[in-house]
Amino acid sequence: MKKKIFILGELNVDLIFTGNDVTPEWNKEKLVDGFEQALGSSSAITASCLAGLGFDVYFVGVVGDDPFGHFCTEQLKKNGVNAKYVTFDRNLKTGVTLSLSTNVDRALLTYMGAIPKLHERYLPESLFAEADHIHFGSYFLQEEMKEKWKEIFEKAQKHSISTSFDTGWDPNNQWDRDNIIKLLEFTDFFIPSEKELFQILQINGIEDIIGNLPDKRRVVAVKRGAEGSVLIDQDSDVIKEKAFEILPVDTTGAGDSFNAGLIAGYLSGIKERELLKFANACGAMATLRIGGASSVPTWEQVEEFLHNHLS
Ligand SMILES: Nc1ncnc2c1ncn2[C@@H]1O[C@H](COP(=O)(O)OP(=O)(O)OP(=O)(O)O)[C@@H](O)[C@H]1O
Ligand SMILES: [Mg+2]
Repeated sequence: MKKKIFILGELNVDLIFTGNDVTPEWNKEKLVDGFEQALGSSSAITASCLAGLGFDVYFVGVVGDDPFGHFCTEQLKKNGVNAKYVTFDRNLKTGVTLSLSTNVDRALLTYMGAIPKLHERYLPESLFAEADHIHFGSYFLQEEMKEKWKEIFEKAQKHSISTSFDTGWDPNNQWDRDNIIKLLEFTDFFIPSEKELFQILQINGIEDIIGNLPDKRRVVAVKRGAEGSVLIDQDSDVIKEKAFEILPVDTTGAGDSFNAGLIAGYLSGIKERELLKFANACGAMATLRIGGASSVPTWEQVEEFLHNHLS
């Protein structure tokens, strides 16, 4: 039977304006070359990628009862994610990110709306009876859940459900070190980027990570962009794996796809260096396509990529 993964996440719509000149000027109307409306959010990209890899994925989230909210759930369904646990809240507006994007740079404006509003009351009763794995993305954006994750992951552990989370960047620059450290005791895979982990642990280099992690913790997987990734296990054994040599087109969602690769590989019994390679492949493949959740690889395509790039 397929393993069931519950993603407890934030959702938003990305409105992407593209062209050579997308810089707004006050009191002027400018015309741009391209426009796209896409499903945004780290959690949604990880969910879509896991569904593409063949897992039974349920998204638990909240959006406004508005066209953007319905767009999010339609896109999730299109990507093979079960959206029955996404709540439409009439009192909220769905969050929106406006992205002004050229070939080299992008500027983002985000209206948070329902993004930080996932709350315990939206979690399905069947969560602990059904899930094989629970993951959440964007620790810092999911403000209402910050105090709750520890209890949820502790309960998951009692039910033999594995757990993981990604932090994303902290827009408030607070980094919440103490709560995150406490949560690691119940987190099977903590999956921050290197830059985020440096901020959280208040360190400057990869060699300082181990000394600053709590004793009571499990696996930490650190994403390092074009440098690859590092896995630090419970016994502080370190596995470093280089990134695949490819020419990236758009790095949006590489980290979220890496998360999916790590979770999918783990649930399929892949371990240690092979697990890192599988996750690196998912991250690298995400950089070869434009956008995050719109087209994700199948398990066979990841294996094919690994075969072609390792031989
Ligand atoms: N330029 C690249 N070349 C090869 N692999 C890459 C590249 N960028 C990312 N990857 C792969 O994807 C993984 C995750 O990417 P990255 O470290 O950029 O995550 P991130 O910082 O969380 O990004 P984001 O949150 O923007 O998706 C890396 O560990 C690496 O394996
Ligand atoms: Mg990231």
